[in-house]
Amino acid sequence: MIRSEVAKKPEESAKSLPNSGPEPSRRFCVAPMMDWTTPHFRYLARLLSRRALLYTEMVTTGALIHGDTDRFLRHDPMEYPLALQLGGSDPRELAHCAALAEQYGFDEVNLNVGCPSDRVQNNMIGACLMGHPEKVAEGVAAMIAATSLPVTVKHRIGIDGRESWEELCHFIETVATAGCRTFIVHARIAVLEGLSPKENRDIPPLKYDWVYQLKARYPELEIIINGGIKTFDECHEHLRHTNGVMLGREAYHNPWLLAGVDETFFGEPAPVTSRHDVLRAMLPFIEQELERGIYLTHISRHLMGLFHGQPGGRQFRRHISENAHRPGSGIEVILDALAKVRTPSSELETAS
Ligand SMILES: Cc1cc2nc3c(=O)[nH]c(=O)nc-3n(C[C@H](O)[C@H](O)[C@H](O)COP(=O)(O)O)c2cc1C
Repeated sequence: MIRSEVAKKPEESAKSLPNSGPEPSRRFCVAPMMDWTTPHFRYLARLLSRRALLYTEMVTTGALIHGDTDRFLRHDPMEYPLALQLGGSDPRELAHCAALAEQYGFDEVNLNVGCPSDRVQNNMIGACLMGHPEKVAEGVAAMIAATSLPVTVKHRIGIDGRESWEELCHFIETVATAGCRTFIVHARIAVLEGLSPKENRDIPPLKYDWVYQLKARYPELEIIINGGIKTFDECHEHLRHTNGVMLGREAYHNPWLLAGVDETFFGEPAPVTSRHDVLRAMLPFIEQELERGIYLTHISRHLMGLFHGQPGGRQFRRHISENAHRPGSGIEVILDALAKVRTPSSELETAS
């Protein structure tokens, strides 16, 4: 059952003004990833790039409506531009949650039509909805009617048994007719029977050309490409054929990559010049979170990739792994770990 009134937004957890800015650029996006793109990782990502569009982890409409709404929607205003990803298919519930997204100050609301897990399939959430384009269209139309935020859809190029080009075009056309103009396309099918979610991110082959062909066929739509992208050179190549790129695992495992985004894709100066500075800039936030009773490990696990490939990086990670979980661990664990990596020269380290 839907609550009759949308929960009130607490002042401290969201923007004080409703979102009224221009639509965020999707030229470079960081993918929604459960347990990974938490508020703590997003804080780090935002220190590294002002312009990358960040996505939350997926939150189901059921959890938002029946659970602790504030906890699920909590974020720091410094995370903007930020998109909320929803999982669900009931139009009334989706509409309600899209309105919540606006009330809490998000910049976009995105519908997950790509997650292949069994758990969500049973509730008609995620990739299984690719087999029900009309249902997705109904949900999207309800969301659009409930919010002035951009409503976008993240999906696969197909699911097992429905993997033809014609079916993909039918999906896009049906959902576009409902008013969606931005499609984030993970360029592989999802196999709903027999592959785990992890395998579903690696085993079905990537077909970037299908995504390029979507853009060519529907030039009026905004098409963002996702799946297996690791370098800026690859991004540049994809941007010749699509409107934007979305990176998931590479952005998480090698977040320093994000430090090059503003300069490379937006022609703006990089906000930080070294990994050390980024980590130091995070310290007040980490302290504030510890004071709220958050365990250090919940934050520090998202920092592990920062010194990826750097001299001392392994010692940095080892120190955190061995110490952050100890009772009462605080900021000194991070400072001691930081002391294990060489201080860089003052020039901007090159993000690759
Ligand atoms: C740990 C993890 C959790 C994920 N959770 C979500 C999710 O909540 N919603 C979603 O749409 N995709 C989710 N994905 C898929 C990513 O958004 C992305 O589509 C996929 O990883 C392919 O992009 P990549 O090769 O750049 O990582 C997840 C991926 C990972 C690795």
